[in-house]
Amino acid sequence: MLLVDENKLYEGKAKKVYRTENPNEVIIYYKDDATAFNNLKKGQIHNKGILNAQITTIIFNYLKNNGVETHLIENLSDRAQLCKKVEIIPLEVIVRNTLAGSTAKLLKIEEGKILNSPIFEICYKKDELGDPMINDYHAIALDIATRKDLEEIYSQTKKINELLKSFFDQANIELVDFKIEFGKDVNGNIILADEISPDCCRLWDKETRKKLDKDRFRRDLGDVEEAYQEVLSRISRVG
Ligand code: TMP
Ligand code: ASP
Repeated sequence: MLLVDENKLYEGKAKKVYRTENPNEVIIYYKDDATAFNNLKKGQIHNKGILNAQITTIIFNYLKNNGVETHLIENLSDRAQLCKKVEIIPLEVIVRNTLAGSTAKLLKIEEGKILNSPIFEICYKKDELGDPMINDYHAIALDIATRKDLEEIYSQTKKINELLKSFFDQANIELVDFKIEFGKDVNGNIILADEISPDCCRLWDKETRKKLDKDRFRRDLGDVEEAYQEVLSRISRVG
């Protein structure tokens, strides 16, 4: 299957989605483009597409082996994955284990406080609005998701957080926070979609708390590719 424009279904900030001969499957191609602050900051991270595709594959396979269904079918090349076609639920589901980023700013608490229990947040995925944070009432009232969808999403998210915390811990990484997205497959089942990579997680070295994620790009800290590579090397050794 050729990854040509006539087969392109969608192009996002970090990935492109292509149709295949099978109407229930798509190819997801990971780009090197990086954006932050809702597209205000733009750049490229050398090899990011390759690193994020590999990191997501390792993590999704680990989740699958632990009973979490994902859209990933198989890797096709270093940047391309064959995935189940899903209809993305327009919610960014965020989990925070350690306080950082927007919530640290909102509450004027210094980054790094380990939380007593995880914070779950949902944002309405709509670039024009800058992905505003909403709550369950908004999501249900505005037909973004049903109550049953949300129950399923939170139940899977809780399991994913527990699994990921333990996974990254084995790689000597603190899982500070992350964002995930879910989609509905052809049978209407809600499954984990999109990616799990340093683009959408905050990952700190467990001892030094050095940032190994996209904050290095957002905050101009340098060595961005090296940090993503470090995450890949460490998680490749887990398990
Ligand atoms: P935040 O602290 O900026 O709200 O981000 C929380 C987590 O969600 C962090 O791991 C980065 C991730 N994230 C995305 O993946 N995409 C986004 O558009 C935003 C704002 C955050
Ligand atoms: N991915 C988002 C954007 O482009 C925000 C972020 O990750 O900071 O704009």
